[in-house]
Amino acid sequence: MIILATHNSGKIKEFKRNLIQLNNLNLVDLKTLGITNVADESGFTFEENAKQKLSSYFELLKNKFDFNKNILISEDSGLEVFSLNRQPGVKSARYGGEKLSDRDRNKYLLKKMVKIPLEQRKAQFVCVIAIAGSGIPLKTPKIFRAEVSGIISLEEKGDNGFGYDPIFISSIFQKTNAQLKDEEKDSISHRGLAIKKITPLLEKMLI
Ligand code: IMP
Repeated sequence: MIILATHNSGKIKEFKRNLIQLNNLNLVDLKTLGITNVADESGFTFEENAKQKLSSYFELLKNKFDFNKNILISEDSGLEVFSLNRQPGVKSARYGGEKLSDRDRNKYLLKKMVKIPLEQRKAQFVCVIAIAGSGIPLKTPKIFRAEVSGIISLEEKGDNGFGYDPIFISSIFQKTNAQLKDEEKDSISHRGLAIKKITPLLEKMLI
């Protein structure tokens, strides 16, 4: 079994649809397991946070699941806007206040950038995945990173995806991520690319 250590339904959907072709796949997430604990994310980098989440959930779950056999995956991701000194970065999920909805958060960011012209709106999404269990010790997890570059649009567009997707235009498609079909987003997204990188390892681990 693979335990995906997240409650974020946008991420869960993307992991599921990108790993579906794996043989012997049994992917469960924290929601499905009924786990409500939220791990600390106090790191300064996506890598630190991905490792922090991996350790927290490993400790929490190790008495219930045998990690000699089962696999634990954590993921930390976010949006870096270069003209804002790479904010919101590791704080992407909480930018502007814990209680904001995705839409409110997008409005908050657009407002912050209202005076920034298009040519200075460069940004990137980053995704870091950490893997332990089934032969990979928690002390030396496997870490994978992928990025996608683009710009922050002037207004929100599209209803697909989640988070900052309605205001991020990747360099590859001249549309926001939220205007893309699932398979289009997966073909270029930070998470789609990071999942491609972990797939050969998971294939070996699931034999
Ligand atoms: P965390 O990794 O749980 O700390 O949160 C990552 C946050 O970054 C999400 O809550 C979103 O706000 C944002 N984010 C990460 N990946 C994506 C994506 O694919 N589309 C839109 N927003 C994303």
